[in-house]
Amino acid sequence: MSLINIVDLPSLADERGELVVLEDNDAVPFKIKRIYYIYGTKENVSRGFHAHKNLEQMAVCVSGSCCFLLDNGNSKDNFTLGDPTKGLVIDKMIWHEMYDFSNDCILMVVASDYYDEKDYIRDYDDFKELTGHGLNSSKRF
Ligand code: TYD
Repeated sequence: MSLINIVDLPSLADERGELVVLEDNDAVPFKIKRIYYIYGTKENVSRGFHAHKNLEQMAVCVSGSCCFLLDNGNSKDNFTLGDPTKGLVIDKMIWHEMYDFSNDCILMVVASDYYDEKDYIRDYDDFKELTGHGLNSSKRF
């Protein structure tokens, strides 16, 4: 089963151009408490490298493009986000890495909660253990 969950965010386009709305409705699968955006990412830089215990997020590339690696501890999927009308849902307990940022990439992320460093899992081995797919987990079988 793919880890890539894309939400369509229709543009209210008219002759002047495009307009996309994000609000607490069916399009975003959680109540938005925080928004942050990443831009000016230097060449060959990758970001992320963590999972969240509880936080749910949705990423939208409002300009340019970047690639995502999503990993649930058991399987991995890659996706290129480069369309402002597509939201990539990043569920809790999904290890994610972002790479191949275009120069003009503006990556906006809406999140279900405030910033809390305690919610982060920044060690991949810890993440694997918590998902039941770590080295120690497999020794149980
Ligand atoms: P970091 O987690 O390293 O970003 P990324 O996931 O893109 O690799 O965050 C960079 C810094 O910004 C780090 O010191 C934590 C801080 N930060 C906040 O204070 N609030 C936030 O909402 C976010 C996302 C990060």
